[in-house]
Amino acid sequence: MINEKYFETFPQLETKRLILRKQVLADAKDLQAIRSDERVMNFMDSERHTTLQHSEEFISENMKVYKDKKGIFWTLTDRSTNEFIGDFLFRKIDSKNSRAEIGYTLKPEFWGKGLMMEAMIEILRFGFTRLQLHSFEANINPENTSSKGLLLKMGFIKEAYFKENFYYDGKFLDSEIYSLLQKNFKYN
Ligand SMILES: CC(C)(COP(=O)(O)OP(=O)(O)OC[C@H]1O[C@@H](n2cnc3c(N)ncnc32)[C@H](O)[C@@H]1OP(=O)(O)O)[C@@H](O)C(=O)NCCC(=O)NCCS
Repeated sequence: MINEKYFETFPQLETKRLILRKQVLADAKDLQAIRSDERVMNFMDSERHTTLQHSEEFISENMKVYKDKKGIFWTLTDRSTNEFIGDFLFRKIDSKNSRAEIGYTLKPEFWGKGLMMEAMIEILRFGFTRLQLHSFEANINPENTSSKGLLLKMGFIKEAYFKENFYYDGKFLDSEIYSLLQKNFKYN
């Protein structure tokens, strides 16, 4: 069972270079920019946010999911400038099995500086030690080499390869599932 108090008080987190705060409606403009950027969306296999309204609806839906204790949605900001640089989410939180799925995006100008790894270490540490999750999973497009590299570096292992199990934009796509157990998390 998970610790439900984090659905009453949002778990804002901090790292050396980042503040990981609650996603709010005012993030819609930044979210629209990142989720309509082809460099970011290349392997996300989800609809581009072509309008501000799309992003506002996305955020409102995320707020409902948080209220239902099924997900947590963070905005990543640069600690020194307060600038929006990306997002990180837990979704499909499964309280009975203490498991959640993760997802993340970062603005391309911030790639390759170790920032998502820095965010992920702190967020997974929160997930394991405070929310009391037992395991995480990530579902990726097998061609998403940057996401795969990040997951492997974090200690995730590949558990499954599904052939053509995901229909998106007129095609059946393959998926890979990675997982990390609490006992194998290196950054406790
Ligand atoms: C995936 C993503 C978040 C990585 O962010 P990032 O901040 O650049 O990653 P980091 O700098 O923290 O990298 C940590 C490790 O991940 C791996 N990695 C990151 N980018 C990589 C790349 N292009 N190729 C291979 N491995 C990569 C490396 O092991 C890296 O460690 P190293 O720099 O010591 O080699 C970013 O590329 C992104 O936003 N991509 C688009 C959105 C997306 O695909 N999200 C995931 C959906 S499942």
